[in-house]
Amino acid sequence: MVRGELKQKRRLRACRKSARLRLKLKPMLARLSFVLGLVIAAPGAAFAQELRGHGGPVRAVAVAPDGELAITGSFDQSVILWRLSAGAAEAVLRFHEGSVNAVLALDNGRFASGGEDGRIALWTAGKPEPDRVIEGHKGPISALALSADGGRIASASWDGTARVTTLADGSARVLEGHQGQVNGVAFLPGAVVTSGYDATLRFWPDDGSVPTMITLPAVLNAVAAAPDGEVAVAGGDGVLRLVRPGAEVADIAIAEAPLVGLAISRDGTTLAAGGIRGNVAIVDRAARRVRANLSGPGLPVWSLAFTPDGRELLSGGADRLVRRWDAVTGEHLGQVVPRAGRDVLAEFQGERGAQVFRACAACHTLTPDDGNRAGPTLHGVFGRRIATQPGYAFSPALRDMDIVWSRETIARLFEIGPNAMTPGTKMPEQVITSAEDRQALVEWLEKVTR
Ligand code: HEC
Repeated sequence: MVRGELKQKRRLRACRKSARLRLKLKPMLARLSFVLGLVIAAPGAAFAQELRGHGGPVRAVAVAPDGELAITGSFDQSVILWRLSAGAAEAVLRFHEGSVNAVLALDNGRFASGGEDGRIALWTAGKPEPDRVIEGHKGPISALALSADGGRIASASWDGTARVTTLADGSARVLEGHQGQVNGVAFLPGAVVTSGYDATLRFWPDDGSVPTMITLPAVLNAVAAAPDGEVAVAGGDGVLRLVRPGAEVADIAIAEAPLVGLAISRDGTTLAAGGIRGNVAIVDRAARRVRANLSGPGLPVWSLAFTPDGRELLSGGADRLVRRWDAVTGEHLGQVVPRAGRDVLAEFQGERGAQVFRACAACHTLTPDDGNRAGPTLHGVFGRRIATQPGYAFSPALRDMDIVWSRETIARLFEIGPNAMTPGTKMPEQVITSAEDRQALVEWLEKVTR
């Protein structure tokens, strides 16, 4: 089979899959867009203070060592690269067939993502396709970790195994033993630790010697390791446990509901753990106590990550947004402002269409000077045939479509969603449920993109 055919097949499969996903997601999406509607309608809200872009819950987030780029993975099957200082999406990356459950920041602008499809993709910022794909898992990937020297990637999977892949030669060590899905993985000095649905935490020495195991009172979700070798594990009973090989050393009650998100600061002093019902606690590891709880919008969260300096916490929410928090006080921060270039949104503050456009501003600018972001500039989009804006690398699937952008076609795009109207698109799935909002958006867009 030639390459093009393979790609086509894959895309078709992806479409069918996403159709199934959409069915499952429908009630959820309806609820989400309701929430989104509320956010947009909030009177006086000057600017969005978060990263908007995903079309589904944000399952995974990581920040690069330079603190400037971040990567997120979502239920909407896309990976987004963000420039944090600008609050802008630099790229929407489509590769996984299914949700993107885990992401990892490597060095030198490289990233990794792990999907429901069991694959790990390695990316370099600026390139639309993965540099490399690591296969081997037979079930969804639930977590990824990077060794301290950057040479190995560990992956945990619902197939009941974890794998440690050496990047230099692609060789993999398979860690087998858990009864049921493996939910978390982390590197320790000289070992790898995994956490599972079977309530065990297993330590796998690098030298291949017999793993040790400790059984805890609950199903175990994410795991994180401090540089000194202490391990934190998020329990299905809402308890955050601190463990050293062989012994549990502390437990800290965080929530009534299962803990899903877990992050540790680079220096290991601070932990953040989030419950599925919305509670996120910032924990002082040495003192073994909760220092602050996040208070503000956007809870519950699915994913958490500290910035490299440990001062900020990023959270990925069920509401599709990525938010920033003060890691000391737990306060919601407001400095991430997705701008549609030259603050076009400020000029039109109060206009409904401009408010609806906030959901687009991280990826699209409106004026000729501001250029392309993750998506093409929408300057001059009315009357333009799909995928013809010069200087933007559109998805191949779009180039043969017979669509000319108008009020009607753009409104339709967000009535039925980009996946249905433009199958194979990189634009994350999103719908605007209110007909009035769609109308306000296209009327405003027509005015400001001329
Ligand atoms: C997370 C980023 C992202 C968000 C948010 C987003 N888009 Fe897009 N959009 C894209 C990408 C990427 C493409 C190009 C699709 C491709 O090549 O597969 C695109 C394409 C388009 C196109 C087709 C452009 C052309 O020249 O053919 C239109 C129109 C559009 N988007 C409008 C919107 C509107 C309106 C919103 C908000 C309701 C929005 N987009 C939100 C990323 C985004």
